Amino acid sequence: MKAKITLAGELKIGEIDRRIFGSFIEHLGRAVYGGIFEPGHPEADQDGLRMDVIKMINELGVPVVRYPGGNFVSGYNWEDGVGPVEKRPARLDLAWGVTEPNKFGTDEFMKWCRKAGTSPMMAVNLGTRGPDAARALVEYCNHKSGSKYADMRINNGYKDPWGVKLWCLGNEMDGPWQMCAKTAGEYGRTANEAAKLMKWVDGSIETVLCGSSSRGMHTFGDWEATTLDIAYDNVDYISLHQYYGNHSNDTPSFLAKSMELDDFIYSVICTCDFVKAKKRTKKQINLSFDEWNVWYHSNGAPIERWSVAPNQLEDIYNFEDALVTACMLITLLRHADRVKIACLAQLVNVIAPIFTKTGGGAFRQTIFYPFREMSKYARGNAIKPLIDCPKYDCKEFTDVPYLEAVASYDEEKQEVALFCVNRSMDESIELDISLLGFEGYKAVHFESMDGYDVKQENTFAEETVTMHDNALPSEDGKNTVCELKPLSFNVLRFKK
Ligand code: AHR
Repeated sequence: MKAKITLAGELKIGEIDRRIFGSFIEHLGRAVYGGIFEPGHPEADQDGLRMDVIKMINELGVPVVRYPGGNFVSGYNWEDGVGPVEKRPARLDLAWGVTEPNKFGTDEFMKWCRKAGTSPMMAVNLGTRGPDAARALVEYCNHKSGSKYADMRINNGYKDPWGVKLWCLGNEMDGPWQMCAKTAGEYGRTANEAAKLMKWVDGSIETVLCGSSSRGMHTFGDWEATTLDIAYDNVDYISLHQYYGNHSNDTPSFLAKSMELDDFIYSVICTCDFVKAKKRTKKQINLSFDEWNVWYHSNGAPIERWSVAPNQLEDIYNFEDALVTACMLITLLRHADRVKIACLAQLVNVIAPIFTKTGGGAFRQTIFYPFREMSKYARGNAIKPLIDCPKYDCKEFTDVPYLEAVASYDEEKQEVALFCVNRSMDESIELDISLLGFEGYKAVHFESMDGYDVKQENTFAEETVTMHDNALPSEDGKNTVCELKPLSFNVLRFKK
């Protein structure tokens, strides 16, 4: 089939905030213990931080990491995780039915962030705790000295404040699975007061209000409008969470899920702007899509109750999952004007692009690759491509464009990048690309992920599903024509 894409510098969506390539580490399964932290591992440094994992994270390009949860945070006493390790208590984690040994906590995470070249996005417990514990944690992390919690940090060996800029006000507080879940009114009030106090401790921080746990929640929409109405003045972002799975083994529908994601994002933008209009304010609330991914392979896998760091939520991803995550990230980038933060959930072992063996090696899952390429090349402004392509109908959607695409334009580097997925199961797309107003730009790189069985996975032994370079596409001086293989993720870069 044939398709046409037109790219023009004027069709700017908005500047791509690097934090859209964020990720997430929760005290859950082997994300921390056996993931980023494994004292005694041959690749671990003197702090027990796995350097082989850090190397892969650097390759992925992750500027911000959310921590320590997730559902975990709603029962977390942050004080348990600071100070001399031998004095820290083990606690029952009611979120995941395991025992939390507290061998790794806030200061270890901050140190890890520095070594991993990333920055922290901390979440506070607004479940079993509230504004008081939240403001104490901001004081612990960000206040210089001369107060109880700042001096506690100093006594623990960390003279300089950590300077954490980004704070999540709890996690998924509408979900009945959450410890001390709340109604929108209850949460709005708690979050507003917490944010107010936290900002009184440090006026330079930014706060993220919890939106609905997913678009599927029956309270979705009302929750956002009510909580924003209450907390608008003290928050900067509202969160969105969404995971997809191929539950009925229907690949065409699974690949089309990003259409629903697009609708979800658009609805939340509208809700933010509805509250903005109601308040007659100039302040705009942006979006923090701080949990997104494919998640379903590990559902129902049993764990031993109250064990420490069991294998939990260890999805092994396949080729179609990589295509879906590519479509999701493309969709997030198409909303770069409002989605300023996004976190691929999660980063290591737990529904993650990086998978380790405790005591052994690590490998890049299939979903690692589209993320890495977009994190590397989607720079500058996101550009809305004008797309003319055939569409298909499937069980869950109608009018699904075969092409999912977004572009970026880095004015400084004089580089245009096009990211696109061909959703067709069996047909190549002959793609005609015209660059309007990009005088003298030529294709310099064309790479793809294609040609695999949809269920093909990577393993410790071999990363089979990966990117490969293609011959440069043909150009007639005006247009570029290239072939996008069936079921493929593609990156094309043009330079002056
Ligand atoms: O990422 C796994 C879990 O998914 C998180 O703890 C929670 O916030 C969400 O439901």
